[in-house]
Amino acid sequence: MPYLTRTRVYPVDSEHPAPGIIAAAADAIRDGRLVAFPTETVYGLGADATNAEAVMRIFAAKQRPTTDPIIVHIATIDQLDQVAVEIPAIARQLADRFWAGALTMILKRSAHIPGIVSAGRDTVAVRMPSHPVAHALIVASGVPIAAPSANTFSRPSATTAAHVFEDLNHHVDIILDGGAAHIGLESTVIDLTLETATILRPGGITLEALRTIIPSLAVSTRFINVDSGEAAASPGEMLKHYSPRARLLLIDGDPVLANTRIQQLAAEFTQNGERVGILAPDEEVSLFAGSRIKIVGLGSRENLAQISEGLFANIRRIDALNVEVILIRSLPREGLGAAIWDRLVRAAEGRIITV
Ligand code: TXA
Ligand code: MG
Repeated sequence: MPYLTRTRVYPVDSEHPAPGIIAAAADAIRDGRLVAFPTETVYGLGADATNAEAVMRIFAAKQRPTTDPIIVHIATIDQLDQVAVEIPAIARQLADRFWAGALTMILKRSAHIPGIVSAGRDTVAVRMPSHPVAHALIVASGVPIAAPSANTFSRPSATTAAHVFEDLNHHVDIILDGGAAHIGLESTVIDLTLETATILRPGGITLEALRTIIPSLAVSTRFINVDSGEAAASPGEMLKHYSPRARLLLIDGDPVLANTRIQQLAAEFTQNGERVGILAPDEEVSLFAGSRIKIVGLGSRENLAQISEGLFANIRRIDALNVEVILIRSLPREGLGAAIWDRLVRAAEGRIITV
């Protein structure tokens, strides 16, 4: 059963949110309702993390399978002990260095957090967001807030209130519109309950930065096609994720060869009567000018932070131009590029052409 409600959108200053608006949203959270709010990574779809019924509404609103656990957001380091137990020293070190910010840690779950939040696991994912609106909302609510990204399941994540509205109108009670999310990609998820600390999802905090604290940090990002009968995907490993309506093809390899292949493919698809869209770094947009091709610039190829910030918005933008196929070349995979690559592979549902 989907969760149905009347959605209200409240504009809110992203640096100094009006206390009255935050109080109204916090009332809704305490009342077991859903509030979408900006964070520095992407928008979250929040509910009281200690209220199993409220968390159930998140799954219903997003049409998310209840096997996929949700991140719990806290406002202060003191709240960590309410949501997690047996917290290792390394978690405190990581928190000191990277919180508030785009890092999510998997820890042992406290009994205060109902099992549904973690899809029945004995672990819990915890993050302390730095965005002033997220921070104010958690403080005013007085409870930790469970929040996945505020998109419909398997769609590109929402980085603006308009994206949230597009996906979740009638399925979220309040949307706090605090402008565009600045990082644009989700947090890095790191599992500290394994023998070796492991990145499960690359994100806003880079592997390189995390290795300054944990030199032995491992990376395990898998792309599992749930339709193929491969081993059951554990959380976050689904190959199809962040997908536009059009089919996205990721062209990987030398940039010059990749762009040539994109030109060829665009010509072939167009000849076959298909509407083609291309996502390209700003410097390369002019390579593809053609009257029937839709082109959206990604930002400068010299600036991966800029490309990250706009990536989901640009995927939604080109999809809205009603194209049937979207072509994009791969970008460097270091630093934030690891998260960009991860999102593009999933948006492409694994359709990678290597040149
Ligand atoms: O930046 C972010 O992390 C955003 C903002 C709103 O904070 N949230 C977000 O949530 O991206 P979501 O639900 O879209 O992604 C959470 C990821 C999923 O891959 C989920 O499977 C994984 O974290 N996860 C959550 N709890 C987990 C757990 N206990 N064990 C393993 N993976 C977990
Ligand atoms: Mg998500």
